[in-house]
Amino acid sequence: MNIHAYEKLWLVAAMLLIVGFIATITYGSVALGITMVGDQQDTVEPTELADDDRFDDPRVEQVGENEYEAYVVAQTFSFQPNPIEVPEDSDVTFYVTSRDVIHSFSLVGTNVNTMVIPGEVAEMTVEFDDPAEYGVVCNEYCGPGHHDMEGEVHVVS
Ligand code: CUA
Repeated sequence: MNIHAYEKLWLVAAMLLIVGFIATITYGSVALGITMVGDQQDTVEPTELADDDRFDDPRVEQVGENEYEAYVVAQTFSFQPNPIEVPEDSDVTFYVTSRDVIHSFSLVGTNVNTMVIPGEVAEMTVEFDDPAEYGVVCNEYCGPGHHDMEGEVHVVS
């Protein structure tokens, strides 16, 4: 009987955790005039970023009238480029990968938040409406400098 009671307890705890996660994701919705459109994944060899057309030179590229692509490399303990500068009223597709260990790429105060895994390319498109400055932080513990791993996205007019 006791075992069953504990099992029930764990089941309830697990359910609460899941509901909590969903609530967190839902609650962290659109803020400050930006919208996250979606995310996908691609692959890359983390030791060969220097030979990769996308990541040899971390940068922002204009690919359409209001469309930009940002190639971002996360590494202990920084993001490149920094700051990432994009114009207002733009759609920016971020391609983010890691040079070393698992990091994350999270725009503070928004729902833009992705894990950055070596060997994988996190892709997400974000609509920036208004000029603003966003902090970029790493939410995955990645070593002694984790708490200082910061960057910035500047949306300029
Ligand atoms: Cu990078 Cu924590």
